[in-house]
Amino acid sequence: MTNCRVCNSKIEPFMTFGKMPIANGFLTSDQISSEYFFELAPAFCSECGMVQLIEQPSAEKMFHENYAFFSSTSKHMQNHFKAFANYIMDSHFKNREVPFVVELGSNDGIMLRNFKEENVKHLGVEPSANVADVAREQGIQTISEFFNLELAKRIVDEYGNADAVLSANVMCHIPDINSVAEGIAYLLKDDGVLVFEDPYLGDVITKTSYDQIYDEHVFVFSATSVSAAFGRHGLELIDVLPQVTHGGSMRYVLAPKGSHKVSENVSVIFDKEQAQGLDKIKTYHAFKANCEKSRNDLVALLNILKSEGKRVVGYAATSKSTTVTNYCGIGPELIEFISDTTPIKQGKLSPGAHIPVKSYAEFSKNMPEYALLFAWNHAKEIFENEEAFKAQGGKWISFVPKVEIIE
Ligand code: SAH
Ligand code: TMP
Ligand code: ZN
Repeated sequence: MTNCRVCNSKIEPFMTFGKMPIANGFLTSDQISSEYFFELAPAFCSECGMVQLIEQPSAEKMFHENYAFFSSTSKHMQNHFKAFANYIMDSHFKNREVPFVVELGSNDGIMLRNFKEENVKHLGVEPSANVADVAREQGIQTISEFFNLELAKRIVDEYGNADAVLSANVMCHIPDINSVAEGIAYLLKDDGVLVFEDPYLGDVITKTSYDQIYDEHVFVFSATSVSAAFGRHGLELIDVLPQVTHGGSMRYVLAPKGSHKVSENVSVIFDKEQAQGLDKIKTYHAFKANCEKSRNDLVALLNILKSEGKRVVGYAATSKSTTVTNYCGIGPELIEFISDTTPIKQGKLSPGAHIPVKSYAEFSKNMPEYALLFAWNHAKEIFENEEAFKAQGGKWISFVPKVEIIE
């Protein structure tokens, strides 16, 4: 893809992370010989402002009946989505008779269960069948398909138009954003709202959180690029609400053009993004240099610890860690294993780097001297739970916003 996925202008590549496997493609040793790789390389469109992957593996390679990411593994995220659902019910559903909410990428039901508990008419669209099943078992209405314009038409025929379409950490996954935007515009009532949140480009640039870039994340959004992408389909950006989740996210509120008042937050953030240089290619060249420094610092630190004979274990086999381990060339010679609470990942090897993934019990029963915090986006929750690790002398290594040992 050398043209923009949104506006078809020529895009400007600014770096490559090299050959990458599927970020959630945990594997067994007999699968190593057939492991799939693609080139992970982002580019910038100076016409519409969208940061995007040049190449993305097919959706079916990433989202299927063995999808390894279950949203409800984080307690903080459960609370976050309860608050998200309450915000929708309080701010957008108050004067609506029988509101209908559709969520794209509803995963194990982490957000929709809050609507279900309030008896709100809801529908989840979740193509990964195993996580969709977990939601259905809780009585959450879910269809297991990829959202696009064609599915939007079927939903309207069967369930009617939606008062709200929601998504979190999903919109940035879908390459055909034009079909999705058209589908949402079709699905929404004339006064409906589209509310979604994703990791925010402004944070990725300031924190050098390059690990937000992996196969699933085909876009890294800003308010500017979201406004351009959805504006083409009659959906206007009416508000932006920064979130602390996933190391800095943005919640975007959109509605059919002219149907809602536009908050002042919108022009404020456009100005802020311009001041940050998100509209200029030189910002992305500087980002590349920062990524290289981060990689060199992390590899140097791990090599020092190795030469000192220290034990280093990875904490949480996140999707993001696949970019870090493969871009930095960190394998089992530097990290003994990665501890993760998700059963489907345990006993497998991490994608590309082939570091063994083990259960949390393996971490807690024989704590290492250093834990490399791959789930830095869940640091608050993890530090709350890991006082025992610190108390017995354990140290955290973080690499966002910079490589450091947290004493
Ligand atoms: N909303 C959850 C899950 C995010 S993971 C959370 O924030 O924790 C991304 C999810 O999007 C996966 O469950 C994946 O199966 C789903 N997904 C991917 N492509 C999709 C599409 N085209 N339509 C709907 N969901 C999709
Ligand atoms: P995420 O950063 O993409 O949300 O992935 C979180 C991963 O981290 C998931 O595999 C579960 C794991 N995890 C732990 O192992 N322990 C924890 O305390 C938390 C919060 C997550
Ligand atoms: Zn463009």
